[in-house]
Amino acid sequence: MSERGTALITGASAGIGAALAREFAAHGHDVVLVARRKERLERLASELEARGVTATTIAMDLDDAAAAIELHEAVSERGLDVDILVNNVGVGTYGPFADSDLDAERTQLRLNVVLPVELTRLFIDELRGGGKLLTVGSMAGMAPGPGLATYYASKSYVNSFTQAIAEELRGDVGVTLVCPGPVDTEFADRAGMGESTVGAISSNTPENVASAAYDGLIAGETVVVPSRAMRVVDLLCRIAPRSVIRRVARWANSGR
Ligand SMILES: NC(=O)c1ccc[n+]([C@@H]2O[C@H](COP(=O)([O-])OP(=O)(O)OC[C@H]3O[C@@H](n4cnc5c(N)ncnc54)[C@H](OP(=O)(O)O)[C@@H]3O)[C@@H](O)[C@H]2O)c1
Repeated sequence: MSERGTALITGASAGIGAALAREFAAHGHDVVLVARRKERLERLASELEARGVTATTIAMDLDDAAAAIELHEAVSERGLDVDILVNNVGVGTYGPFADSDLDAERTQLRLNVVLPVELTRLFIDELRGGGKLLTVGSMAGMAPGPGLATYYASKSYVNSFTQAIAEELRGDVGVTLVCPGPVDTEFADRAGMGESTVGAISSNTPENVASAAYDGLIAGETVVVPSRAMRVVDLLCRIAPRSVIRRVARWANSGR
């Protein structure tokens, strides 16, 4: 077992989750990789084990009311101790809310909101006394987002929740929220937002986000915004009138 601690990463088969898995492994952490695509997880695990860490895969659909409990049980059954919980999995629903598909909205709420809350609650006692929690929120959580209304709202929830428990757990569990802007991953295609203005912007790579998130976690930072451009957007979101922010977000999320 790695002396640096084992990191469990949800949504580890692609994008930011896979980059985080590589980042943790590069720093000598064992990893537990969770997502649905078994082959992808196994390929990534082999790559990471070649670097001398232990990589365990748990292939499961997290879009299920019992998923958090089942994942917690699967980890216990394998005799794994989780020192770092990484709440990364998340999806977006794109388009006017009035036309939205309720099943897709429920999936988004389960993966983006309910799951991180449940996993954090289930693992919290194991993290006490020096463990860490890393949650992937978003710059989307800083503003209302017409066109991606429920996605922005879901990220607002995790951004707020994570910062609140960072205060509650200070000195016991190191809690870090990472808030990327647009990142070049499978996210935009999955959300069907390829034709949107924001879908065409890619301000960052998954590797940069993972590296900034890891450094922030180890340094004990509460909020990491991993690009200079997004730190400016963060500042503007705080000082600009809400009516302006809503209109700019509407433009950014509209079709090209
Ligand atoms: N990309 C961006 O622009 C951006 C910006 C800010 C924040 N974020 C946040 O970053 C996080 C990761 O997003 P990403 O951009 O890396 O997305 P991504 O490339 O689409 O990866 C999503 C990951 O989640 C897994 N996943 C999706 N549905 C699942 C389910 N039902 N059960 C289990 N695993 C599931 C996927 O694997 P399987 O398909 O194999 O299950 C994949 O590993 C999300 O929380 C997102 O909100 C993304």
